[in-house]
Amino acid sequence: MTTQQPTQYRRMQFFFPVALASFLVLGAVRVVLDSIKNNELYFLWQSHFAGSTTRPRRLPIVVSENEVIEDGCNVFEGKWKWDNSSYPLYREESCPYLVKQVTCLKNGRPDSFYQNWRWQPNGCNLPRFDALKLLEILRDKRLMFIGDSIQRGMFESMVCLVQSVIPQGKKFLKRIPPRKIFLIQEFNASIEYYWAPFIVESISDHATNHTVMKRMVKLDSIAKHSQEWEGADILVFESYVWWMYKPLINATYGSPEDVREYNVTTAYKLAMETWANWIEARINPHKQKVFFMTLSPTHLWNWEWKAGSDGNCFNESYPIERPSYWGTGSNLDIMGTVKDVLGKLKVNVRLLNITQLSEYRKDGHTSIFGERKGKLLTKEQRSDPKTYADCIHWCLPGIPDVWNEIFYAVLLQDYRNNSLIV
Ligand SMILES: *[C@@H]1O[C@H](CO)[C@@H](O)[C@H](O)[C@H]1NC(C)=O
Ligand SMILES: *[C@@H]1O[C@H](CO)[C@@H](O)[C@H](O)[C@H]1NC(C)=O
Ligand SMILES: *[C@@H]1O[C@H](CO)[C@@H](O)[C@H](O)[C@H]1NC(C)=O
Ligand SMILES: *[C@@H]1O[C@H](CO)[C@@H](O)[C@H](O)[C@H]1NC(C)=O
Ligand SMILES: *[C@@H]1O[C@H](CO)[C@@H](O)[C@H](O)[C@H]1NC(C)=O
Ligand SMILES: *[C@@H]1O[C@H](CO)[C@@H](O)[C@H](O)[C@H]1NC(C)=O
Ligand SMILES: *[C@@H]1O[C@H](CO)[C@@H](O)[C@H](O)[C@H]1NC(C)=O
Ligand SMILES: *[C@@H]1O[C@H](CO)[C@@H](O)[C@H](O)[C@H]1NC(C)=O
Repeated sequence: MTTQQPTQYRRMQFFFPVALASFLVLGAVRVVLDSIKNNELYFLWQSHFAGSTTRPRRLPIVVSENEVIEDGCNVFEGKWKWDNSSYPLYREESCPYLVKQVTCLKNGRPDSFYQNWRWQPNGCNLPRFDALKLLEILRDKRLMFIGDSIQRGMFESMVCLVQSVIPQGKKFLKRIPPRKIFLIQEFNASIEYYWAPFIVESISDHATNHTVMKRMVKLDSIAKHSQEWEGADILVFESYVWWMYKPLINATYGSPEDVREYNVTTAYKLAMETWANWIEARINPHKQKVFFMTLSPTHLWNWEWKAGSDGNCFNESYPIERPSYWGTGSNLDIMGTVKDVLGKLKVNVRLLNITQLSEYRKDGHTSIFGERKGKLLTKEQRSDPKTYADCIHWCLPGIPDVWNEIFYAVLLQDYRNNSLIV
């Protein structure tokens, strides 16, 4: 193989082969393991937060000049710099909330270089992550991450970034499918995850009972999910990989009986418009903040960065250095759709454009040190990385920590700008 792939071949790369579908099950399988029912959520909340009659005082946070993103600096443009003295920001074994899927070292990954890179924006510096400052910003608030298993990685990363400063017995992780909720008692705050792989409704919404191959999206239906999002103060949305299975996807729009095959680009646009309508109708921009995270890149074909190869992200230990590297796994039509839909919104939804910075990180995926269908790979499977390497999900600590560092920088700036609701 050469890097000069026929156009048809390149175009087909946008869609992820059948074998990979098995990695997507994870997001679902993982939220399963609990039997608490939805209507118990309220009681759960009460029991953890009730009783504190004296309301803790909000402490002012000091945000120094060098913690502020300079005007006009695009934090998403920059380079990865080797920094093994400050990174990783936490250790795999020190965070009890990581699922087995992402603990690559524990699962046998021989190199840990992927944990030692700092993101350096071109025009400014990112503030150092300060868990106590973030928790103070989150006091009395609910932060919710909504999306697929990539988004679950961001949720877990955030939990690990803050959890070490909270004493034992004052923090709780609850699994209430399709949610995971991390409660922080002292701050009367929660960091939550909500499983909605297409954002809109679909037959893949059930945490356990769905198939990945067979998918059907209800492009104009969102209410079942969105009613669960309405109380959140800060919302972060993401949805990509589940769409990218085939060029066409079965979906309904209008009549629920009328299932048709839609072009994925068209379907994604219709779903985003349904979401946008909900945002406009239900989000109170004075009280809530909304973010949208752009697509998380995949590294399924290494001929894209290493001419003449025919593998994937397996055995990659270093980032790509070529400036502005962009693989075929990051679909430009989808990116364009996100841009269009957000551009037309009257509510300010901010973009966390993590695609380019993550594109460089072919080394950050779980590869053969993750899971497939909820189980660690067997020795036989590990010896066949071409079939079994997962080049979609990320190890933790790792790349999603940097997404959160940037997200933190934006929240800190908001706080200083005094636009955060008190
Ligand atoms: C950090 O990286 C430098 C340069 O590669 C290396 O010489 C040093 O041994 C590393 N330190 C640790 C603690 O790994
Ligand atoms: C906890 O936060 C909620 C808002 O999310 C607020 O209504 C409630 O009064 C707070 N509880 C305490 C004890 O401060
Ligand atoms: C799983 O879903 C299918 C179709 O939606 C349904 O027929 C079946 O009864 C469900 N099984 C369980 C165990 O809920
Ligand atoms: C849509 O559903 C039909 C009937 O189940 C199936 O034959 C077809 O392959 C599906 N199309 C896609 C793109 O998955
Ligand atoms: C889907 O739509 C996009 C953008 O409109 C177009 O470029 C692409 O060729 C279409 N794909 C199919 C399979 O029709
Ligand atoms: C991984 O890559 C190194 C070179 O970077 C090579 O020496 C080694 O044989 C590779 N390992 C496997 C299992 O392919
Ligand atoms: C995100 O950034 C990339 C370049 O890094 C750009 O091409 C893309 O259009 C941006 N996405 C959106 C939705 O603005
Ligand atoms: C904060 O205020 C500065 C200057 O007024 C502005 O440039 C910046 O965009 C604001 N940042 C946020 C996150 O709102």
